[in-house]
Formats: sequence, C-alpha cells, structure tokens
Amino acid sequence: MFETTTLTSRLTRRPRRLRTSETIRDLVRETTLAPQKLVLPLFIIEGQKRNEPIEAMPGRARLSIELAVDECRRAVDLGVRAFALFGVIDASLKTPEADEALNPDNLLCRATRAIKEAIGESCVITDVALDPYSSLGHDGLIDEHGVVMNDETVEVLAQMAVIHAEAGADIVAPSDMMDGRVGAIRTALDEADHTQTLILSYTAKYASAFYGPFREALDSAPVDAPNVPKDKRTYQMDPANAREAVVEALLDVDEGADMLMVKPALPYLDIIARLRATTNLPIAAYHVSGEYAMVKAAAQNGWLDERACMMEMLTSIARAGADFILTYAAMDYARWWRETFT
Ligand code: PBG
Repeated sequence: MFETTTLTSRLTRRPRRLRTSETIRDLVRETTLAPQKLVLPLFIIEGQKRNEPIEAMPGRARLSIELAVDECRRAVDLGVRAFALFGVIDASLKTPEADEALNPDNLLCRATRAIKEAIGESCVITDVALDPYSSLGHDGLIDEHGVVMNDETVEVLAQMAVIHAEAGADIVAPSDMMDGRVGAIRTALDEADHTQTLILSYTAKYASAFYGPFREALDSAPVDAPNVPKDKRTYQMDPANAREAVVEALLDVDEGADMLMVKPALPYLDIIARLRATTNLPIAAYHVSGEYAMVKAAAQNGWLDERACMMEMLTSIARAGADFILTYAAMDYARWWRETFT
C-alpha cells in the first residue's frame, strides 16, 4: 500500500545503511568508553568500619579508610583503577587557616598511603584545595575584608601538594582556581624531588550549582558569617564564559600542567570540545555530584531509565573530547559495560 517513485529510488547516499545491524553499528561507532577511562571519586571519613550513605548521592557513601580500600578492590575488579580522594575532615579540626591541610598525617594522606600500599595498580588522585579543612568553607585563605587571598593561598597549596606526593599520590589535582597555582605546585614538587608526580589542573572549574550534594557529603559549603563570601564566584568561573576557559587552559599549559580538567561535564560539553581543540594535553571531565544525583532521583521516581541515561551521558562527555571522566557512576558503568559488551 505504500508506494515509492523515482523521487527516492535514485538516492545514492543512504546514511541509514550504517545503522542496519548491531554488528555494523558496533563497527562504525566513533566513541567507545571503557571502564579504564573512568575515575571513581571517594569520600573518606575517620574511624573504623564506617559506611555513611550520602543522602543526595544514592549508592555512594562516606567510607572509613579500610572500607575505602575494599571499595577500591571491587572497582579494580571491574576495571576502574583510578581514584580521586576527598577527605571529610572532622569539624573540630577545621580552622579559618585550614591548618589540618598541612598535617602530613591527615586523613587524606593516610587514605592515600593505605590505597597505594594495598593496590599496586591503583592511581591515586588527591584534591588540593582548602575547603575540606577551612572552617569558613572556602578553597582559599580569607582576609579581614572577606577577600579570598590568591598568593597566600597558593603558598599553602604548593606545600599541600608536596605532602600528598610524599604520601604516595600519583596525581595532585588543584581544584581551587587560584591564579598561578599550577606553576607554584610544579616548582614545589620538583624542589622536593617529586618530578614524577603529575598535576591534573581543574582548569575550567565553574561556579556551578551542581556541586550541592558534594558539599553536603563533605559538609564544606561556605559558612554564613560576616566577611565570608557567600559563594565562590570571585575564583570559580562564570558559567556564561567560554573564551575565558581557553585563557585558563593556555596558562595551565605554560605553568606545566600534565592534564587539564573541565568541571562540571554535561552542561559544559562545548568547553571540553574547545579545550580539545586548543591543546594536545589529556583532558579530563568531572561529571559532578549534581549531575549524578539528578539521574538517580529521576530513576527512583520511574521517570528515566538510569542505566541508559547514565551511559548516554558518559559517552557524550567522551564524544565531546574528554580522555577520561571522574564520575560517581564509575562502578555502575563498569558493570553495565560488562553486561553490554562482553
Ligand atoms: C572544592 C570541590 C568541589 C567539588 C570538588 N572539589 C565543590 C566546590 O567547589 O564547592 C565538587 C565535586 C562534585 O560536585 O562532585 N574544592
């Protein structure tokens, strides 16, 4: 009953031919995101056998060190071998100057040592920023007028990176957005003979509303007090800006960054693509807590297919140009990957 005419019979280009069967689609697929390309962020807490679920991040929990090591082992079995560590610092240890950040035996350093000792093939990425240690909830030191001080903060960050390297970190990742911190960290690491420690710079980190669940997990939101900025917009980037990300990237390359990062990921695919075109360095993307939480929440309501949406999102981030992705869904993805492709 349906008829065709010469209008279509002479079509020479039929892109649908490439979609005919699953086997052909597999052959021509342009982006394949293996679990080895994922980094699992972990929240570490003090104590023993502690597993505290994070309400706004279903499936993820704050773990004490030995449980975090167990989690890393399970991840490695699934093909996820890189871990980004964040310490949940006890409120009693937080100060306006973030002193605990420079304690070589702090929670983050102990967790780094434990994971590196237990799992030879692991790659540990440590977070270099003051917010987990600051009683004011900012990534830098704050002066009496409420200004986040750049150069004074960079001095502390450089020392922090050295103690992380001494604890065994493979990669230090400054997430603070101070100017000049990559160069200062490179110099400090080299002077301390840590010439092999990589720097993953949070190059284009936006002042995003998608960090909410992370700040809940770490209890690290800026505090409401006089002379404390209520948000991070004097150092994190304006979500409306793209060219500025290129400025940041060129500076980081000059200062000696080994890898660049864009954060968040899905709302910033254009930035990932731009940096991909700007530099030949590896590019990471951070699929952040809010991006994870919104899929989980919709799935729990039966409104979205979690597996299909999460796989589509992560594949899209890779397609935009990210070489590797930090995601709370790393282990889920690895399991789905196994079911889908093996
Ligand atoms: C702070 C930091 C943040 C995240 C990673 N490091 C939050 C912030 O800038 O306030 C967010 C990550 C996430 O939301 O998953 N140094």
